[in-house]
Amino acid sequence: MKVKAPGVAERDTRVLPAGDAASIAEAARVILQGGLVAMPTETVYGLAADATNARAIAALYAAKGRPQFNPLIAHFASALAAEGEAELTADAHRLAARFWPGPLTIVAPVKPGCRVGLLARSGLETLALRVPSHPIARQLIAAVGRPLAAPSANRSGRVSGTRAEHVMADLDGRIDAILDAGPCPIGVESTIVACLADGPRLLRPGALARADIEDCLGMALRTPAVSGKTPLAPGALASHYAPQARVRLNAQTLRPGEAGLDFAGRFGRAGGAPIIDLSPGGDLHEAAANLFSSLRALDAPGVAGIAVAPIPAQGLGEAINDRLARAAADRPI
Ligand code: TXA
Ligand code: MG
Repeated sequence: MKVKAPGVAERDTRVLPAGDAASIAEAARVILQGGLVAMPTETVYGLAADATNARAIAALYAAKGRPQFNPLIAHFASALAAEGEAELTADAHRLAARFWPGPLTIVAPVKPGCRVGLLARSGLETLALRVPSHPIARQLIAAVGRPLAAPSANRSGRVSGTRAEHVMADLDGRIDAILDAGPCPIGVESTIVACLADGPRLLRPGALARADIEDCLGMALRTPAVSGKTPLAPGALASHYAPQARVRLNAQTLRPGEAGLDFAGRFGRAGGAPIIDLSPGGDLHEAAANLFSSLRALDAPGVAGIAVAPIPAQGLGEAINDRLARAAADRPI
């Protein structure tokens, strides 16, 4: 569905099949001209723009309807390229060496002359850096030859898109193209760790499990208290990944009118209510991969609410429970 909105340029959104060699070159050309292209990553689809082009970044915020106080992650082809823009501490180096390319975002102080502009950073003197492992994202970043700012490719406040159809449902008519590479393998966003002068802190649980990071650093990660209004990852506002329907967590059974987001078969058949099981066999990786598409599928008109079965908190479960808690939080009108 195309949506006209004040202040958002209407664009003809093309779907470029990622398997086609010409698609990457075309997507890179569009980005170098200041355009917006949704790209697959191993976590979720990102809406990519040239991070060094302030006009492109302004258009990106407008297309998503994203508040400009919420900074963007800069995506690089290599740790070396990322280090050109920001100062990595010893801890950051250790994490980068172990987990890049992969679903880890490191927040670090910018270097003087950082090419990622103030708008993309929301005026901060720190920069969120990520080196994705998805081959299409990597080819696109290499073809552009500049850092790509890429927030999740959804309208602000909606759940992230893990398939090209999700991106089209949110952004058709607002962006120039989407590189369609099918479903994203992991399905939840990267883990964000701040590596600043006061040591490493977990800003957002995500696709890389806390235990793996703690194991690499040889210490427990501090988790800053999120005060709701001024979280440390500014996008981590309490209600963020919100479907339209009310979300009820840790449900043991379904109430009348509710759809069910199940895990490991707890709800059974429940008398014909729509139910999606994130993983009938209780596998957290499978559950993460299915999370956002299942929330979107259950969030249909006429569904009074979505009941969510309990999901274990370890490993990827921390990120899954974090996203579900945000989906269930009271949201601003
Ligand atoms: O997996 C991912 O990280 C995906 C893919 C596309 O790479 N991207 C993603 O971007 O989730 P986004 O914009 O939806 O979320 C980025 C988060 C936001 O909560 C933002 O506030 C936080 O990163 N962030 C960005 N720069 C920051 C900084 N300098 N300090 C603290 N938080 C920052
Ligand atoms: Mg997002």
